[in-house]
Amino acid sequence: MNSITLAFSMSVGGQRVVKNIDAVTVAKKFLVRGYNISPEAAKLICSSEDPEALIEEVCRIAKNKFIIGEEDVLIAIQVMKRSKYIKEEKKETHFLQVKAEQTVKVLKEVKSSIVEGKVEDFVAYFNSRLEKISKILRSRVQPTQIKNLGRFRGESVSIIGMVSNVVERKEYFVIELEDQTGSINCIADGKNAEVARELLGDEVIGVTGTLRGNSILVDRIIFPDVPVNGERKQIDFGIAFISDTHFGSKDFLEEKWKKFVEWLNCESPDEKLNKIAEKIRYVILAGDIVDGVGVYPEQEKELAIIDIYQQYEFAAEHLDGIRKDLQIVVAPGNHDAVRQAEPQPPLPKEFESLFPKNVVNVGNPVFLDLNGLKVLVYHGRSLDDIVTKIPRLSYDAPHKGMEELLKRRHLCPLYGSRSPIAPEKEDNLVIEEIPDVIHSGHVHTFGIGFYRGVFLVNSSTWQSQTEFQKKVNLKPMPCNVAVYIGDKIGKLSFDGG
Ligand SMILES: [Fe+2]
Repeated sequence: MNSITLAFSMSVGGQRVVKNIDAVTVAKKFLVRGYNISPEAAKLICSSEDPEALIEEVCRIAKNKFIIGEEDVLIAIQVMKRSKYIKEEKKETHFLQVKAEQTVKVLKEVKSSIVEGKVEDFVAYFNSRLEKISKILRSRVQPTQIKNLGRFRGESVSIIGMVSNVVERKEYFVIELEDQTGSINCIADGKNAEVARELLGDEVIGVTGTLRGNSILVDRIIFPDVPVNGERKQIDFGIAFISDTHFGSKDFLEEKWKKFVEWLNCESPDEKLNKIAEKIRYVILAGDIVDGVGVYPEQEKELAIIDIYQQYEFAAEHLDGIRKDLQIVVAPGNHDAVRQAEPQPPLPKEFESLFPKNVVNVGNPVFLDLNGLKVLVYHGRSLDDIVTKIPRLSYDAPHKGMEELLKRRHLCPLYGSRSPIAPEKEDNLVIEEIPDVIHSGHVHTFGIGFYRGVFLVNSSTWQSQTEFQKKVNLKPMPCNVAVYIGDKIGKLSFDGG
């Protein structure tokens, strides 16, 4: 018996009022409404508390369907169950209406692309980055092209360029900036030296300063960033953010995952928690769905399932336990069976076809519209680079690292370090449109916070510390789920006993 069936059984237990109706009568009732119904679905309706109401609900949801299956009936049962809760709370039923229309719109993702990695590919890729981020910066900086700076000696100038090198001298930093016309050294001292110290390389910034000889003495370093007055978005539904499930690993935390699913299915012993689950419409999984094969040396010793196809089968079984009226979005990470270089396309069809119908398979990164909420999902591999490069950051507060990505309006600014990038013609890792939410994982720790109205969430893992992680001293914070409801955010921990 799967969890959905169990939910149904529980909901009809206790005060069950059985009305005399048989499968043939149910089938006739559907026929007059223009539908056929499978025998299993009809039986399910017969055993329900209020078959007449359930028939109405199934027809309301089914719309253009020709044959009604068990799945349609189960969805209707879930909707009715929530409706009952909402009525009991004397609240409006608009949550329910939102639910019935819930959609996952993919606004932007890379489906599939082949890049050869020739020199000209890289030139096109970095030109695209420079152009896209320059466009953002131009609202605050009116730049002069580097080749034309010579005529402004001793004057105040502004430029926009890509950071090609940063060198620390005794009391200042030299930032080498490049645009499409040339390059120039910018001397950053005092407070600007502190900003320069945190430059990653390959990000696009603006600089204002005074031209002295062949260099610019920096007054101000300007990041593309997001506006200071950004407001957090209010939503009338809930989203649960999870990441790094690592299905197939010996260290997958099965029992804790079951608790999470029990909660999502509104079957928690704690009614307050069920009330929260009632409002959830989406579950977003930000990569490393499975543990993968050959991701690091001797990984096979840490696998419970050594076949990649079977790992996805196992993942599908677990996602199938989640109630069917939720939309589950799954994106890949560096452990999944797609190319490692970012952006990563969605999982191939052979794996996608294993998943239940309420799973939406997307790429990494992906820009989504969930009932009007703009959610940018990015696995988060570049956080390794950020945490390594900026000493004040740590894995204990991964959302602070995400803040740096947003500030630079790029998901993976540093090229050639731990995060491989595919040199597409267009740089699809630039954060062009400001999202309401950025959701990452990868580092297996948990952190949430708002930055200028954007909700940043890193939603940990469902895998305990692996031998490999012990060696590299990575301490995960498993089984934490971030929840966004209304304009509130919170953490639900399933790591307890
Ligand atoms: Fe992971």
